[in-house]
Formats: sequence, C-alpha cells, structure tokens
Amino acid sequence: MRWAVLVGGTGSNLDAMLRANVPVSLVVSHRAEVPALGIAERYGVLAVVLDSKTIRNRERYDEALCKILDAHHIEAIALAGYMRWLTSETVAAYRGRIVNVHPSLLPAFPGMHALDQAYRHGVRWTGVTIHFVDEGQDTGPIIMQQPVPIPPGESQEALESKIHMAEHRLYPQVVWALERGWVHLGVDGRVIWDLSHKEVESWMRGLYLV
Ligand code: GAR
Repeated sequence: MRWAVLVGGTGSNLDAMLRANVPVSLVVSHRAEVPALGIAERYGVLAVVLDSKTIRNRERYDEALCKILDAHHIEAIALAGYMRWLTSETVAAYRGRIVNVHPSLLPAFPGMHALDQAYRHGVRWTGVTIHFVDEGQDTGPIIMQQPVPIPPGESQEALESKIHMAEHRLYPQVVWALERGWVHLGVDGRVIWDLSHKEVESWMRGLYLV
C-alpha cells in the first residue's frame, strides 16, 4: 500500500518507520519547520506542510488534506505525532486504513499529555497502544499494545525515553502487519488477526515474551 505518515513534531516514529523500510510515499505535517520534515528529507520522502495556522476551519483543513492524499494515491495513513482530530469524513474515507500511536495503555489516559497523566497518577505500568482511528479521540479499536513498567523513583524523562523506545519498536511492526494483511478491521469494527500465518504466531510469541 502507499502509506502517508501525518506528523506535527519531532518525527521519531516517522524515523523508526523509515528505518524499518515501511513504504512511505508521503509525509504531511500540520506544522511548519518541525524536525519531522528534516527526517522526511533525509530519507528522500516527499513532505508537504499543510499548516493548521493557515486553515483554521477543521472541515476545510481536512478537505485540503484529503485532496493532497488523493493526489498522491495514498491508500493507508499512519499518524505519528499528528496532534489534530480528523473529521468523520476523513475517517470514513480511510476507515480501517488509518492507524495511530498513543503513549499509554488505552483506554487509560487518552488525549494530550498521556505520559504526564500516567506519571502523576503514580501508575506502576503504562505503555504504548497502536489502534485504528475512529471518530473519537484515541478511542479506536486496539491493534496491539506494549506495556512499560514505571518502577518507584523513576524520573519522567527516563519513562519518556522507555515509551519512545517501545513506540519505535512496535509501531513499524504493526504497520508491516497491516501491510502484509496479517491484521485488518472487520466489518463489525473488531480487529481481526490472521493467526494462520506461521510468521504471525512467532511474531506474537516474541511480542508477548517481553
Ligand atoms: C509520540 O509519543 C506519540 O505517541 C504521541 O506523540 C509523540 C510523537 O512523537 N502521540 C499522541 O500523544 C497522540 N495522542 P514523534 O513526533 O517523535 O513521533
């Protein structure tokens, strides 16, 4: 599939995907001059800035976004630090083909500042979730999760770096699983894994051993 990665910041997940040879055809950023754009350039991937400051209206913004995605024949979308809420029209156009990474074990700590929230609540485990995007905020069907422990005394910086490591490991693998047809969104809105593949079984075993 032709993937677009939508970004808005550091771009470390974009970097992880490009390192894992995910077939990224396009990067779209909702902010100008962010490091993610430099990463796209370094890998020779076309990057477009659709600055949210220039199109304030959410519907108009997504119409422009979909035009760009259509023009580049994009078939699947990965959100990576894209801090905007997609309209229901955009979600419907790509249902089952838009995924997001979120730095918590959803449904705990959705929205912004998930890491701060986990830290402030004093939970002893948090983690990373990769999910299909639906109309809600961080509410879509969960594809895969990776728990991350928070031992007593751990600094927030150390936690952040562990969360990022987990994201960079898990997200490209899940995108590849979608790409290979190992997992998809069923018509009933449930996530369906094709466990008949030998590789899926061994991949799962590896993931769950950690
Ligand atoms: C990631 O930690 C991702 O989980 C988070 O933004 C960061 C982007 O980092 N996304 C959310 O909180 C979405 N609700 P990156 O730009 O370095 O990939």
